[in-house]
Amino acid sequence: MKQRRSIAAALAVTWSIISTASAESDSDVNRLIRGSDKKLSSLASFAEEDIDVFKESPLDDEHDSRRLQSSSCVGNDMMCGCSDVRQSDYRGHFSVTRSGFTCMEWSMADSFPNQGLEDGAFCRNPNGVGQKAWCFVEDGNGVMWDYCDVPNCQVESSGDITPGCFNTARYNDIYADIEEIKNSIDNDFDRSHFLGGIVRLVAHDFMDFDASNKRKPMGPDGCLLFDSSMNVGLGSIWCDSCPLKQLYDSKYSDLSRADFWVAAGNAVIFLTSINNSLDLRNTFYWGRTTLDSCPGSDSRLPTTAGCQDVEGVFLERMGLTWKDAVALLGAHTLGRGQKQFSGHHGTWVPNDKDAQVFDKKYYEELFRRAWTPRGVGTEDQDWATGSSQDKMMLNTDMCLIFDIDNDKSCCSRTSMFKPNGQNRCEINEDRECMMYSADNSRIEATKAVKRYLGGSGPNSNNVPFYNAFTIAWFKATTNGMETLRPLQDTC
Ligand code: HEM
Repeated sequence: MKQRRSIAAALAVTWSIISTASAESDSDVNRLIRGSDKKLSSLASFAEEDIDVFKESPLDDEHDSRRLQSSSCVGNDMMCGCSDVRQSDYRGHFSVTRSGFTCMEWSMADSFPNQGLEDGAFCRNPNGVGQKAWCFVEDGNGVMWDYCDVPNCQVESSGDITPGCFNTARYNDIYADIEEIKNSIDNDFDRSHFLGGIVRLVAHDFMDFDASNKRKPMGPDGCLLFDSSMNVGLGSIWCDSCPLKQLYDSKYSDLSRADFWVAAGNAVIFLTSINNSLDLRNTFYWGRTTLDSCPGSDSRLPTTAGCQDVEGVFLERMGLTWKDAVALLGAHTLGRGQKQFSGHHGTWVPNDKDAQVFDKKYYEELFRRAWTPRGVGTEDQDWATGSSQDKMMLNTDMCLIFDIDNDKSCCSRTSMFKPNGQNRCEINEDRECMMYSADNSRIEATKAVKRYLGGSGPNSNNVPFYNAFTIAWFKATTNGMETLRPLQDTC
């Protein structure tokens, strides 16, 4: 009887500790995860369930006895439980309970052989009789028992992996896995291509959407014609020996490829944004169906010819605004063009290091440098700046602020000079490219570029770009999909 009263006393102490812990962890949850109410109620029910367990001693005869689980933790001195959710295989040296009591020797529980009780006064859960590791303690009024806060060891996937369930844990895992691959690439050129390539893959998937084609709208369906000249280069991102596809095949193939691509793109954007400040998880929705065949999708993709392509794809077929189109093209801050793929060579930003940072630099480069046409008369005609010719803009980038669709014999900034007095335009230094007049509908694109610059002078304000990109990316990655589901802790 005395022992029972003591257990009730322990219960009171523990309940207040559980309540405090719940409140603390919930504020973290609120910051990280949407749907915090759900989390709060699950924490509450966990606490209640614990209380029920506390009503009886773990050593009562009617206990739900469990066989010792896998012995993979033998020799584990770490402060964590191992393969068994009830921590019955824990053999580490944690010896203080969560109410702060020190564990007693297990002399009163000698009916549990091979449970590590003989090792010393440590937290154990012999035969899984409690919810988790526990031990007997003495509080001055008698002997009672209390749970220990032995954390569980990290298992490979932190998430519930119900097949087909795209929950928060798996989404987080994708971020971690993409980061790991990124960190394993040892040079800037390949790393920027890996990162940029993933975002381009997602874009090529969503840019074939046609709202007016009810029978075959396409859009983000995980389907691309990799053999098409429009998609050259993406075969080095998604192929049997490519790390991204290997990751999908080995760990995420129960999810739709279309969802996986969008989540991988979100991971890249998060990892490369300034201070990881652009996290698109709150606008991530899943449940896309993957198509295995999408004939004709490549003919809907934009060529680099000029703004008629931008208008056709983004405004007319995808139903976006100029603000959206300009924000999406800001993704060209990542990665590069390669001659052997598209025929276009160079980064949009100063170098391969900058091409791994998702910020507003694309607009700064577009607006402030002296760009002159390169390869005039060829189908790979684009724009370059400086003598190295290592930086580039496409016609579809330049046309956002310069009226170059019909006249390309110009330089975007004719009054910029090198320290030696030479004009920064390599050619056409006497013909500045025309900008749009106020009555031209494309002036909306120019206004958007200026807005995403973040201010009139040099500044580090990425907020206008990030906000606009969030909206545009959300629209593009969910276009035409009406049954998508938000990210939640459980499915
Ligand atoms: C008018 C529309 C667009 C055109 C004409 C266009 C064209 C191109 C071209 C020619 C390349 C070089 C490919 C290579 O040589 O490997 C490229 C790369 C890239 N594009 Fe676009 N693009 C467009 C829209 C977009 C959009 C909407 C996004 C993302 C939201 C995007 C993201 C990228 C990225 C990140 C790269 C670098 C890829 C890498 O490093 O491998 N593009 N684009």
